[in-house]
Amino acid sequence: MHVLITGGAGFIGIRLARRLLADGQLLLDTGVQPLTTLTLFDQVAAAGITNNDMSHDPRLSIKTGDAGDPATIDALIKDADVIFHLAAVVSVAAERDMDLGMRVNFHGTCALLESCRKHGRTPRVIFASSAAVYGGPLPAVCGEGTALFPQTSYGMQKAMGERLIDDYSRKGYIDGRSIRLPTIIVRPGAPNMAASAFASSLVREPLMGRSYVCPVPSDTPLCVLSVRRVVDSFVYAACLSSTTMGHTRAVQLPGLTLPVADLIAAMERVAGATVIKRISFATQPEILKIVQGWPVRFDTNRSAKLGFKSDLTPDAIITDFINDELAGQVVA
Ligand SMILES: NC(=O)c1ccc[n+]([C@@H]2O[C@H](COP(=O)([O-])OP(=O)(O)OC[C@H]3O[C@@H](n4cnc5c(N)ncnc54)[C@H](O)[C@@H]3O)[C@@H](O)[C@H]2O)c1
Repeated sequence: MHVLITGGAGFIGIRLARRLLADGQLLLDTGVQPLTTLTLFDQVAAAGITNNDMSHDPRLSIKTGDAGDPATIDALIKDADVIFHLAAVVSVAAERDMDLGMRVNFHGTCALLESCRKHGRTPRVIFASSAAVYGGPLPAVCGEGTALFPQTSYGMQKAMGERLIDDYSRKGYIDGRSIRLPTIIVRPGAPNMAASAFASSLVREPLMGRSYVCPVPSDTPLCVLSVRRVVDSFVYAACLSSTTMGHTRAVQLPGLTLPVADLIAAMERVAGATVIKRISFATQPEILKIVQGWPVRFDTNRSAKLGFKSDLTPDAIITDFINDELAGQVVA
C-alpha cells in the first residue's frame, strides 16, 4: 500500500509519518494492508525524518514541490492508496495573502481531488480541516450540523475543501474523510503562521527556560488536543469504514475546553512554579480577533460514536510533550 502525506514536513505530518512507519501497516476495515511506500511531500524537505534513522527506511520516499501546482500533485498521487492531505497555508498567512491561500488551500485541494478522479482508483483521502470553518453567529455548542460561515479566508478554504471531499466521495472518486481539528499542542521548534500557534508557544517556551509573552488574556477559552491524539485520529480515520459516516465525511474531533489560565495551572502542577513565572501577557489584537471567532465547545457525540478519542487532562498533554520532545527534561 502506498501512503502519501502532503505537508509531510510539518508538525503533524512528520509525527504521522513516524507512526505509520513504526506500525508498518494500516488495519483498514477491508483488512490489514502492509505499508510498502510512504511518500512525504512538502515544499521543504522533512528534516524530522531525515535527521534520524528513518531516513534509511526503504519504504520512505521524500519529495519536495508545490502543493498548488496541479502537475506536481498529479504525478504524486497517481498510485497512492491512502492520502493524508495536510499541506496548507495556515491561518494568519492565508489571511494576509489571499492569492497564496487560494492557490494552495483551495486550488491545490481541487487539483488533488481532480487527479484522484482522473486516475480512477478511489483512494482514501483524509483531509486536515479546522474548527476555523465555524464563524459568524454561533450556537453555544458547534458540530457537524452547524451551518458554516467562516470568518477567515483560511476557514473558508477549509470549508470548501470539506464540501468537495463530500461530493467527490458521494460520486465515488475518492473515499474521503475531513477531520476538523481543534488547536493542536504542543508544537516544538519555531511557531508557524497559525493564529493558534501561541497555545504551543505558551507551553513550550517556559518549559525550555525562555520567557513568553502570551498574546491573548488568561481567561481566553481554548479547545486543545495533543499531537499524540491527532496522529491517532488521522490513522483511525483512514481505517474507519465510510459506511458508518452517514451524510457527511466531516468529523469534529473532540478536545479539552479550558481557559489559558488552566493550561498554565497544569504547567505549574507538572513542571513547578518557576516555569510559569516566565509567562507575561500583552494582547495582540490580530491574534485575539481570530481566536475569539473560534468556537471552543463542540458536540462530539458523532466523533465519540465513530470512536475518536480526546486527551484526558491538560497535565497529560504537557507530560507527553516533555517526554516526547524535551527528552523528559524541563529547564527549572
Ligand atoms: N496544528 C493545528 O493546531 C491545526 C489546527 C487545525 C487544522 N490544522 C491543519 O492541519 C494540517 C497540518 O497542520 P500543521 O500544524 O502540521 O501545520 P504545519 O504548518 O506545521 O504544516 C503544514 C505543512 O504544509 C506545507 N506547505 C505549505 N504550503 C505548501 C505548498 N505550497 N506546497 C507544499 N507544501 C506546503 C508546509 O511547508 C508545512 O510543512 C494543516 O492543513 C492545518 O491547516 C492544524
